[in-house]
Amino acid sequence: MLTHDKIERNVGLLIVLTILTISVAGLLEIVPLFFQKSTTSPANELVKPYDPLRLSGRDIYIREGCYNCHSQMIRPFRAETERYGHYSVAGEFIYDHPFQWGSKRTGPDLARVGGRYSDLWHRTHLLNPRDVVPESNMPAYFWLDRPLNTADIEAKMRALRKVGVPYTDDEIAGAKKAIEGKSELDALIAYLQGMGTAIKQIR
Ligand code: HEC
Repeated sequence: MLTHDKIERNVGLLIVLTILTISVAGLLEIVPLFFQKSTTSPANELVKPYDPLRLSGRDIYIREGCYNCHSQMIRPFRAETERYGHYSVAGEFIYDHPFQWGSKRTGPDLARVGGRYSDLWHRTHLLNPRDVVPESNMPAYFWLDRPLNTADIEAKMRALRKVGVPYTDDEIAGAKKAIEGKSELDALIAYLQGMGTAIKQIR
């Protein structure tokens, strides 16, 4: 008989049974999410794959490490929804590979920052945050006002298509042209302005 006494006196057995319990409980929580429509399909018809400019902006966001200070996930608590708007839902991130939810918030959550400020505000803020928010301790990203590298956009889109983002051949073929002459700043701002706009803001 497997009594408490026996299990607690046998470290090896305790480890095996603990792992078994956690695995079964974990799988019961995780596996259904692979088959649930709310987590596997877009939240609504406004959730679309990133266009080439926003996709490039997203990569700059990742390259510059913005996620080290900003999360992109509004939790379903009143304190959060009052401040940021509707809580985040899985179907908003269907085309994010990888998603940028994060949990570190040195700065505010950005999940619904799209449309909150003008493009000019973002431009000023990114080049030197202190120009618009005097008490800000966000770093200045003054080097972003330089031409966007367009060389790898088609390869990026093809890679994303492999993991399920439905880019068409035409979209990929036209991608380079679509971002020609843009700056890194333009791309990053386009990305920020699209963030969270598919779901109407409550604020
Ligand atoms: C060292 C931490 C840090 C890093 C890294 C950082 N930020 Fe910030 N960010 C902040 C803080 C703090 C604020 C709040 C003060 C302000 O508005 O400047 C902020 C504010 C913002 C806001 C305004 C949000 C709002 O709702 O008012 C945006 C947009 C933003 N950051 C974008 C970015 C982007 C894009 C990057 C990467 C290029 C980035 N941040 C990197 C700390 C950071």
